[in-house]
Amino acid sequence: MRAIGFHRILVPVLVITSTFTKTDGQPPIGRQRMNFDKDWKFHLGHVTDPHRDFNYSIANILAKTGDAANTCIRMDFDDRAWQTVQLPHDWAVALPFANVNNDDVGAHGFHAVGALFPENSIGWYRKTFTLGHVDSGRRFVLRFDGIFRDSKVWINNCYLGGRFSGYGSAAYDITDFIHFGSKNTVVVRVDASQYEGWFYEGAGIYRHAWLESFPNVHAAELGGVFVHTVTTGDQTAVTLETRVVNQEIRAADATVSAYITDRDGKTIAQGPQQSLSLGRGRDEVATGKDGLVTFSLNVAHARLWSLDAPYLYRAVVLVRSGGAVDSVKLRFGIRTITVDKDKGLFVNGRPVKVHGVCCHQDHAGVGSALPDYLQYYRIQLLKEMGVNAYRTSHNPPTPELLDACDSLGMLVLDETRLLNSGPEYGGEFERLILRDRNHPSVFMWSIGNEEWMIQEWNLGKRIAQTQILRQQELDPTRTCTYAANVGNVWTGVNEVIPVRGFNYNLGGLDAYRAAHPDQPVIGTEVASTVSTRGIYEKDTVNAYVPDYDSVAPDWASTAEYWWRIAAARDWFMGGFAWTGFDYRGEPTPFSWPDINSHFGIMDMCGFPKTVYYYYQSWWTDKDVLHIAPNWNWKGKPGAPVPVWVNTNADNVELFLNGKSLGKKEMPRNGHLEWMVNYVPGKLEAVAYKNGRKLTAMVETTGNPYSILIHPSKEKLEGDGEDAMVFNVSVVDRQGREVPDAQDLLHFSVSEGARIIGVGNGNPSSHEPDKCADGGWQRHLFNGRCQVIVQSDRHTTNSTFTVTGQGLQPAQGMVSIDPAKDQ
Ligand code: GAL
Repeated sequence: MRAIGFHRILVPVLVITSTFTKTDGQPPIGRQRMNFDKDWKFHLGHVTDPHRDFNYSIANILAKTGDAANTCIRMDFDDRAWQTVQLPHDWAVALPFANVNNDDVGAHGFHAVGALFPENSIGWYRKTFTLGHVDSGRRFVLRFDGIFRDSKVWINNCYLGGRFSGYGSAAYDITDFIHFGSKNTVVVRVDASQYEGWFYEGAGIYRHAWLESFPNVHAAELGGVFVHTVTTGDQTAVTLETRVVNQEIRAADATVSAYITDRDGKTIAQGPQQSLSLGRGRDEVATGKDGLVTFSLNVAHARLWSLDAPYLYRAVVLVRSGGAVDSVKLRFGIRTITVDKDKGLFVNGRPVKVHGVCCHQDHAGVGSALPDYLQYYRIQLLKEMGVNAYRTSHNPPTPELLDACDSLGMLVLDETRLLNSGPEYGGEFERLILRDRNHPSVFMWSIGNEEWMIQEWNLGKRIAQTQILRQQELDPTRTCTYAANVGNVWTGVNEVIPVRGFNYNLGGLDAYRAAHPDQPVIGTEVASTVSTRGIYEKDTVNAYVPDYDSVAPDWASTAEYWWRIAAARDWFMGGFAWTGFDYRGEPTPFSWPDINSHFGIMDMCGFPKTVYYYYQSWWTDKDVLHIAPNWNWKGKPGAPVPVWVNTNADNVELFLNGKSLGKKEMPRNGHLEWMVNYVPGKLEAVAYKNGRKLTAMVETTGNPYSILIHPSKEKLEGDGEDAMVFNVSVVDRQGREVPDAQDLLHFSVSEGARIIGVGNGNPSSHEPDKCADGGWQRHLFNGRCQVIVQSDRHTTNSTFTVTGQGLQPAQGMVSIDPAKDQ
């Protein structure tokens, strides 16, 4: 098991303070951004019974602004009996599994959420906060980065607005409604009775919430500063487009200045201050040109953002008006992305084959509510495998995922939920672009996925044209694609899409290319190998698929099939394998008792399957030599066992208990197989790579004896948000990891930290991911399980303990950094 050892990378947000008031009692200067995650009250409502939904829909609250009588929207509603929760929060992951005969419930992981479960599908959230009188006169915006779904928001009895889709960021200007100097109450109703996708989506306020504040004359809240760069030789022109908004009740004059710093805060370029006069009450139309100020700054010999060295600069824009200052600080990278129809993708002028994976957003233990640390953890795991690109299938990601990709060097294909140009989803796509266009990791937009009702017809083409125009207008620095699950088909979306995306159907690739040689081509979705980690025989009772790169649904293929095709064609940009990690839902090729997908190259916890080593062999220049299966086939002496070896060496010789089973040449982009009659002992591979010897071994082990824990890092920040991962395994008396152990383990953590989820990657496990404190437990699945620990608000060191019947326990110290305590 790999010990992951990287520290959490701090992502600077604009300016974080825990109060909006300066100590001298004066209003603060600059833009403030306060995390709004803590101390929410939560209660389930009801889809069909208004009485169990706090009278919502029978109280006539829409007749008058501020009338919330008889509902839990009321400011003075007594919510003391409600559960206290911290965002990100996904209530669905804690719901029981329900074996109902309904494809959509199965596709969502059989959790009892959706309209068939009206008692579980409405969630109410309440939170109170105060702002001092001294803060009045500024603008306040409440931002939710993702609520699944159909959310409605009130403040102080007044309705603010709602968001239909569960994947976009939504911002509400709450300034007019605030009671300065006394209590304010925010109430959110979340309706998860309807699905948006065909995969696990969670339920609730599952991403961060923020309270932002800035002066009345300020950079636009969404997309207010757009940074883009052009590098010629050793000179880079950095353009900062700033849209200034006037929310004073009168016309205002403003000056705008901008500068760039390096990573350490040293100013390296500064623009001349610019003045502008703003009329009254500029609206927030994103594309409006009013108040647009453009700076062009020069950076000589820039340090480029690349996959191996993702250097990030900072841009700072200051908007001054009437003594107040708004400040926007953001990270950006200097890099060039080009797409060539014959040679594929180039980053900074160098060819980059897309070694991509598609991913959904949920993880073991926590559902769709990931602490930020897990974003970094997952991206780091993918990088170790050789992945260089991530497709946010099939929805806008959380901003922290993009922060992780910026920091660690991972390209992103940023995808919107639906191919739909109407106001709702067209607006979602616009907001996605305005929010994400400063991230250097985003290299291309995706306007949709497999819209088979429209993709081949004029309707699809018209909608695509509108979305493409929107993209080009809001971000002319990038291009876009569409994930089409058709082969050599030109009509519809493909006629107009700048980069043709292939989902599977690679049989049509060459004919399509021959007919349309001017259109660049990318594999938006490929592979879909199904496998269960550590299982090497088909098991239809438990719904397991053998852990080789051998089984794929009829529309899909193995890893080896698509990668051989991609590797052989320069004009094929590469592609995104389905999927980097298993996810809840889509239990293909089975159904109940299976509750999660088998498509992952890693399982739900990020533990690698055999196919991982195929990709790692051909996507990295690390020495890879891996044998599957394990050699614990107790009770099966003499049984023929298919042995797969993945390596990037030149040849491999296999030995069973010292006896050669033959030497084979390694085919490029392939793997090797032997059929071996099982005898307990040692199965060894000896390989040569450019004359260097590599060895690997699997060995029959004894029974589990002692527990091992593998912490992903040493320190937790005591901010109540930071998290870490403990991977857990067991070894025999000789210290050998037991790969087929299934023991039940119990976990506890002392004060200072808390356990927030457990998992083991078993796609048919119905054990809870969330347990009551004092009762955390999980079985190992084929030797492994995972515990996710988050810092609490105490500042003390904490001890993590794992026990299991008949096993030597394990204990680890979690050291908590008190500096970040809140
Ligand atoms: C694709 C689809 C994905 C997933 C995958 C499974 O067609 O875009 O969301 O369902 O199939 O192979």
